[in-house]
Amino acid sequence: MKVAVLGAAGGIGQPLSMILKNQLPAGSELSLFDVAPFTPGVAKDLSHIPTDVKVEGFTGDDLQKALAGADVVVIPAGVARKPGMTRDDLFKVNASIVANLVKNCAKACPKACICIITNPVNSTVPLAAEVLKAEGVYDKHRLFGVTVLDVLRSETMIAQEMGVSNERVVVPVIGGHSGTTILPLISQVIGSEVICQDKIPQLTADIQNAGTAVVEAKAGAGSATLSMAAAGARFALKVLRGLMGEPGVVEYGYTEGGSKYNTFFAQGLVFGKNGWERTLDIGTLSAYEQQCLDALVPELDGNIKKGVDFAKTWIEENK
Ligand code: LMR
Repeated sequence: MKVAVLGAAGGIGQPLSMILKNQLPAGSELSLFDVAPFTPGVAKDLSHIPTDVKVEGFTGDDLQKALAGADVVVIPAGVARKPGMTRDDLFKVNASIVANLVKNCAKACPKACICIITNPVNSTVPLAAEVLKAEGVYDKHRLFGVTVLDVLRSETMIAQEMGVSNERVVVPVIGGHSGTTILPLISQVIGSEVICQDKIPQLTADIQNAGTAVVEAKAGAGSATLSMAAAGARFALKVLRGLMGEPGVVEYGYTEGGSKYNTFFAQGLVFGKNGWERTLDIGTLSAYEQQCLDALVPELDGNIKKGVDFAKTWIEENK
């Protein structure tokens, strides 16, 4: 298996690449690309970690070389937000970065599973779908938005609230990956009855605002990098396990299809040899969660439309 990381020399890309170097199955290849000219140096650095994973670094005009034959591509490339910005404020800069990288994927590795971290994920994934469609290689089962950091945060915060170990907490997080489109289904967490009902809206808001809390705490130096790297690696490794034929591998992610709530929606995915094979039913929601879900749908709609509209213009301009 070959995994390519695009944006590999950045704040997310470096720790993500390190986790992959340590955790990819023996015999895998890890291909790092970044516009930063020191990317081959990052690869050289990682190559000294004694695991049976071959690492190569590329920069400049070598994107196609980096992508050739990739089974999974993880994209953290792009700019991060600063205090006072929303994820949507990044769209202007990040949209064309994602469009260009995805177009290159279409040419170099048309069957790869593409996992997008670059924000605003609610819009960059629909945008990527349009670019892949224009290239004639779109398969909705192979394109993902990485929303699993919301799951990590939910696991951590809910476990703290319940006073139990993180390992005992499984939290479905549906919707999207920004503000109120992030919807943790706390009512479905086993044992969550111990949490006072009055606390649920605040706990939900804390999970929704966790990314902003990191941006503010980093005070201008960017957004979550280390936890996002952990999330990106967790997701990519699960996609890979599915591709390798392991049955029953599940993770939450943002994809097109399988939801009656929106065209693109974050939900439980069961992975297989061709990407995600089926989605998990969202189950029974509490009245509060249903209210949040009803409210998030129009916002997500707008985010999706923004990505699709941008893609249409970008495709015309970059024929
Ligand atoms: C996050 O959730 O931490 C990332 O999406 C980065 C951000 O801007 O919040």
